[in-house]
Amino acid sequence: MDHFDYVDGTMHVEQVPMAEIAQQVGTPVYVYSTATLERHVGVFREGLSQLDNPLIAFAVKANPNAAVLATLAKLGLGADVVSGGELLRAVAAGIPADRIVFSGVGKTADEMRIALEHGIYQFNLESEPEAEMLSAVALSMGKKAPVAYRINPDVDAGTHAKISTGKSENKFGIPYARALESYAAARDLPGLDVQGVAVHIGSQLTDLAPLEAAFVKVGALIAQLRAAGHDIRTADLGGGLGVPYDPSQPLPPSPADYGAMVTRVTQGWDARLMFEPGRVIVGNAGVLLSKVIRVKQGAQAPFVIVDAAMNDLMRPSLYDAWHDIRAVAPAGSREMANVVGPVCETGDTFAMHRDMDVVAAGDLVAFMTAGAYGATMAGTYNSRPLTPEVLVSGDKWAVVRERPPVQSLIDGDIIPDWVAG
Ligand code: LLP
Repeated sequence: MDHFDYVDGTMHVEQVPMAEIAQQVGTPVYVYSTATLERHVGVFREGLSQLDNPLIAFAVKANPNAAVLATLAKLGLGADVVSGGELLRAVAAGIPADRIVFSGVGKTADEMRIALEHGIYQFNLESEPEAEMLSAVALSMGKKAPVAYRINPDVDAGTHAKISTGKSENKFGIPYARALESYAAARDLPGLDVQGVAVHIGSQLTDLAPLEAAFVKVGALIAQLRAAGHDIRTADLGGGLGVPYDPSQPLPPSPADYGAMVTRVTQGWDARLMFEPGRVIVGNAGVLLSKVIRVKQGAQAPFVIVDAAMNDLMRPSLYDAWHDIRAVAPAGSREMANVVGPVCETGDTFAMHRDMDVVAAGDLVAFMTAGAYGATMAGTYNSRPLTPEVLVSGDKWAVVRERPPVQSLIDGDIIPDWVAG
């Protein structure tokens, strides 16, 4: 559910006409709804209401905008971070360190130091060499690092190969079969306090069965670890719950279904459960608003050329992702069209042979469900400045990231004297 609705034939975000934002900020622009963020946090939390004090750590990578993070911080969420940059963003947005968990296969000693200085809740370790490095860094600071191992359960998440993380051939986590040895080695490292087990098998999951299979493995491992004398107090079940992108497809499991499954599977674990949702919190809370530059006749269907491109929203070109594309002020008729951006690659295609509202030059279109992995993955390819972002709440709205001037792209480069001559 979201708060992008048509009022008098034109799309509004909460009480604000999308056209007003386009007119004042220009396009392309990402637009986020506070009411949708609040709703999604509420629904996710409600799904977990049978659990005792779960930690919901928003996956910052999905949308690291400071205003979004501050909104989620006010709602009591923690953060799952995967770099020193994300950690500092989360802290700056007001997320308390004791609600922050640090994931990722490539944490550097510097990043570990920053996280230890802030006193984060947990490091999710992904390898034995990483455990050794963290122990050494912690010891050098006179600290003990609270850790879990992320296990690789060798479960097929049934999602796009590029966003699957829980198969044994993926780079993530420690092999399940070797987990007891890895934990035993970690216990002997003096700079670590081994407190938990973590798992995350992939993103945009539309079936609960692989998640359940992974969680069952976590439960079995917790029992074995305790039998081996480890004091396991936390279990981080990761993120991954999918969101609806294509209205013609079956709905993914709801947070209520997910919560019921988690509650059933984790009964008797006696560990604090942690979650790292990203997409399900922010996905439907954002759209990419764009303007049609022109429509050009194609051999089979018209090409609708919009002013957003693959550098602004990479998901279609990277994962063949499907985003609903709606006219902000639909004229009423529909047609089959191709929607493309101005970048000079055929991959800069948002949709082929799409049944959509008929649009003409100057019309606004919205790429729906773009709040997760949208602005954060944008780049400046073709010397296109990063897309600005707007946050709406009721009848208020604010630019929460400005569009940089093109000049900033030029000024960022340095021409050495020996080139300038
Ligand atoms: N925790 C960890 C350790 C993760 O790696 C991820 C996502 C999450 C949590 C959050 O997953 P979510 O709840 O959002 O599914 N760029 C891709 C998605 C990459 C996801 C990477 N990891 C996309 O646009 O579909």
